[in-house]
Amino acid sequence: MAVAVELLHTASLVHDDTVDKAPLRRGRETINGVWGADVALLLGDYLFASAAEMVCSTGNVEVIRLFSRTLRDLADGELREIHRPFDWAQSEDRYWQRVEKKTSSLFATSAVSGAILGNAPPTAVAAIRAFGLALGTAFQVIDDILDFEGDETEVGKPVGNDLRQGVLTLPTMLYLREHAGEGRGVDALERLRSSGAQGEEDDSAVAAAVAEIRASGAIRDSYEVAADYATRARVALDRIGDGSNPVWRSLSEILDFVVARDR
Ligand code: FPP
Ligand code: MG
Repeated sequence: MAVAVELLHTASLVHDDTVDKAPLRRGRETINGVWGADVALLLGDYLFASAAEMVCSTGNVEVIRLFSRTLRDLADGELREIHRPFDWAQSEDRYWQRVEKKTSSLFATSAVSGAILGNAPPTAVAAIRAFGLALGTAFQVIDDILDFEGDETEVGKPVGNDLRQGVLTLPTMLYLREHAGEGRGVDALERLRSSGAQGEEDDSAVAAAVAEIRASGAIRDSYEVAADYATRARVALDRIGDGSNPVWRSLSEILDFVVARDR
């Protein structure tokens, strides 16, 4: 099951890099970059099918159903992300919905399927699900922050890519909330919107918007939101054990890493 989750994750990134036309992942050239979109599409399918076969080998219908629903959620989240690009006015609810579908769902499934296969009691399954959801959300918020302030060689993927693709994430939303429609960043976002509507890329507008958002309070505020989700994950984790259990300690370390990471 653990390998299946990892393979599903890898398959979804191969497809995501194809959708994003991303050249770099984990510091290496992407499949779509080296062999093109058609190979990447089929290779992603191949990885996904291998994952599905492994999940079936658990013989547990509950985790097979959970896995299938998660795949649907990932695709749903990704579809929502590419729908209406450059729409900076979309609601914060839509952002949180996207995060839950495309990221938190997989973290939750990873955690819950282990609990189900380990015959954990329903209260522990509920707590580990809450842990996975909150951890996944904190992870995605940090990912969205690193797209603004990460170093490309550290992060291992291009920065500024979300704005370039027209994807609205938390730092931009908080910037727009703080600047109430005025400022150089707002102008740059407007330039991006009009060039994006014509299918053109405007690198100087991306650079200007990234610089303004980085210099604003939006990054600090986004970190606070991530910390809030990490606290929720910590509360859920504390409901299922303590430091005397080595598995619990691993989960606790993952949580600390997710909020402290710079790559
Ligand atoms: C990365 O997000 C993308 C995801 C978490 C999910 C992508 C899901 C799909 C493409 C559907 C998968 C379907 C099959 C059949 C496997 P991001 O773009 O925010 O992260 P990044 O900055 O690392 O690219
Ligand atoms: Mg991507």
